[in-house]
Amino acid sequence: MKIMIINGPNLNLLGTREPDTYGSKSFETYFSELQFKFKKTELSYFQSNIEGELIDKIHQADKEFDGIVLNAAAYTHTSVGLGDAVKGIKTPVVEVHISNTHSREKFRHKSYIAPNAKGVILGFGLLGYDLAIESFLNKE
Ligand code: DQA
Repeated sequence: MKIMIINGPNLNLLGTREPDTYGSKSFETYFSELQFKFKKTELSYFQSNIEGELIDKIHQADKEFDGIVLNAAAYTHTSVGLGDAVKGIKTPVVEVHISNTHSREKFRHKSYIAPNAKGVILGFGLLGYDLAIESFLNKE
């Protein structure tokens, strides 16, 4: 099983960015923990602050991976292009958000990813990525 985790803008700042909302662990530290926990799963990780790079990575990951875990961060709420990318590929995508976007500002309630995602997980902190991976492993 091969799973690609794709993180969007500002998630490179996890650990120091708004810790009350996003916690105080860096994604690199957390990714090592995921690799330790899911030893039999081949996990890859990509982060970019650039919309087109995220779209390119989604295209590349298609068919190469069994699942994509996507936290498109702020682009979730703005990017028709990312939504179309998810719609245009065969590999299933699970949308993850660390915070509960529905309990926050109204502009965060809209997702261009969700209509084409296999599922959406939000509000459980970094645990959301674990749950998304589990969802692919328990797909039968
Ligand atoms: C986020 C929620 C988004 O609204 C925000 O722009 C982010 C992070 C989350 O994981 O909670 O950057 O995707």
